[in-house]
Amino acid sequence: MDTIILDMRDGIEENGIHRAGEILKSGGLVAFPTETVYGLGADALNAEAAAKIYQAKGRPSDNPLIVHIADVEALDRIAAKIPEEARKLAKAFWPGPLTMIFQKTPTVPYGTTGGLDTVAVRMPDHEIALALIRSGGGYIAAPSANTSGRPSPTTAQHVAEDMNGRIDMILDGGHAGIGVESTIVDLSGEVPMILRPGYINRAMLEQVIGPVEVDPTLLSATAKGRPKAPGMRYKHYAPKADMMIVEGEQEAVIRKINELVKEELSRGGRPGIIASDESRARYHQGVIRSMGSRSDELSISGHLYEVLREFDTENVTKIFSEAFDTPDMGMAIMNRLMKAAGHQILQV
Ligand code: TXA
Ligand code: MG
Repeated sequence: MDTIILDMRDGIEENGIHRAGEILKSGGLVAFPTETVYGLGADALNAEAAAKIYQAKGRPSDNPLIVHIADVEALDRIAAKIPEEARKLAKAFWPGPLTMIFQKTPTVPYGTTGGLDTVAVRMPDHEIALALIRSGGGYIAAPSANTSGRPSPTTAQHVAEDMNGRIDMILDGGHAGIGVESTIVDLSGEVPMILRPGYINRAMLEQVIGPVEVDPTLLSATAKGRPKAPGMRYKHYAPKADMMIVEGEQEAVIRKINELVKEELSRGGRPGIIASDESRARYHQGVIRSMGSRSDELSISGHLYEVLREFDTENVTKIFSEAFDTPDMGMAIMNRLMKAAGHQILQV
């Protein structure tokens, strides 16, 4: 199959959106930009179309998809019980990087929910995504548009690397701004619970609906129990090289990473370093990449997956990363880094 790439970096193009919508309505696959990462879209109400997503990604079939909608009214057709908190959160954060879990209606096929009786829903804050959802029938299932196990794509080039020849179309909307996937909140229990941290953090949610819990398995490898979002159970976002995070006071971290880099070089390896704009000049050997500035958290989240992808092509043998416990997005950024590092963290 030839994958068509439509360039919409300079703005939305109605004709292209119409073509993409027709592909979705006839059961095909279209990748598109959102404000978080690129999604791989299919008609969420068509089980056969959803099945193609699993095939293209090599995704385990019990890992459910998020249904993307373009207006709040669309929710009633797919969600059976909509708690008051959900209405409040939708009002506060949609369109935006927040996914909520609901009891599903029979309209949503089990092929979309990985066999679950619940459905994850979000309304993305991106004009190309919203136009595509409307044009494609209103309900678009879309996981991140990467091959299962690779870092999520933040550019159309990343999508093409993984999906060329496997899907019908890619809409190029330039760089996806936030760079890490949406926050997932489960409202089906007594207390709302964050199943995946993202740009919308705990404090932001609590301001709207009061106390919110965090799935205890998210940040620690040793927490008992299984993560509640099936996708969080799989090994994810793993670069080819072994990765170690070094956490502590800034000067101590820089010293330790420089030491580890020397050791790796003396073993004949090719070390990679994940630094920040502030620390970059303090490293002198190895493949050095800055994620962004610590005073601009979105620059860090926005480059995280790109940097991991780059290290794969650079064939580094070991990656040493600074920790990024930043005030607002720290939980989201560290969650992805910890997964990439297989929870290897060194305190200094
Ligand atoms: O930002 C995002 O959410 C991106 C963009 C494309 O919208 N999408 C995304 O989808 O990250 P995906 O498939 O890569 O991640 C969806 C996560 C998985 O961990 C999945 O297990 C979880 O959401 N999930 C989906 N439906 C669920 C459900 N009913 N209950 C619990 N977890 C669910
Ligand atoms: Mg994903």
